[in-house]
Amino acid sequence: MSDHELRVSKIRDGTVLDHLPGGSSLHVLALLGIDGSEGTGVSVAMNVPSDRMGAKDVVKVEERELSQAEVDVLSLIAPRATVNIVEEYEVREKKRVERPESVTGVLACPNSNCITNDEEPVETRFDVLDDGVRCDYCETIIREGIADHLDVS
Ligand code: CTP
Ligand code: ZN
Repeated sequence: MSDHELRVSKIRDGTVLDHLPGGSSLHVLALLGIDGSEGTGVSVAMNVPSDRMGAKDVVKVEERELSQAEVDVLSLIAPRATVNIVEEYEVREKKRVERPESVTGVLACPNSNCITNDEEPVETRFDVLDDGVRCDYCETIIREGIADHLDVS
């Protein structure tokens, strides 16, 4: 994107999550557990025109370098995201999200009889499949709308 189209300022230090699906950035922040209470800068741009994607979201998290493990969970809802680590205004590292083998504590099982939904719940754990995720406890598979099952309260 050329500079005259820039919607959100460049950041000095932190992480820029780019090429997020249009409209997904609030889910992305929820998945990362970022709600603003950190006190550091967080910028969100939704539905920015993109040559590659039509419309994309961009999230800039200042003063925080997100680890590969932290961003890999994003692959569930933003498989084409790029993660840019910025230092002194320069992109020092650009990485892609990678599909993790499993995700723990981020999705709620839709099966109300699942042990993870008991009154004293055990932490959820899902295996990541090619076309969805499968609960480790009851084997319920979520294929579509994974973002609707975020358990990030
Ligand atoms: N960025 C930023 N602050 C900086 C440097 C970069 O917010 N100090 C943002 C840019 O606005 C962009 C992303 O980080 O959204 C990646 O920057 P860059 O690699 O320079 O852009 P592109 O080459 O367009 O990235 P790509 O090839 O991944 O599309
Ligand atoms: Zn289950």
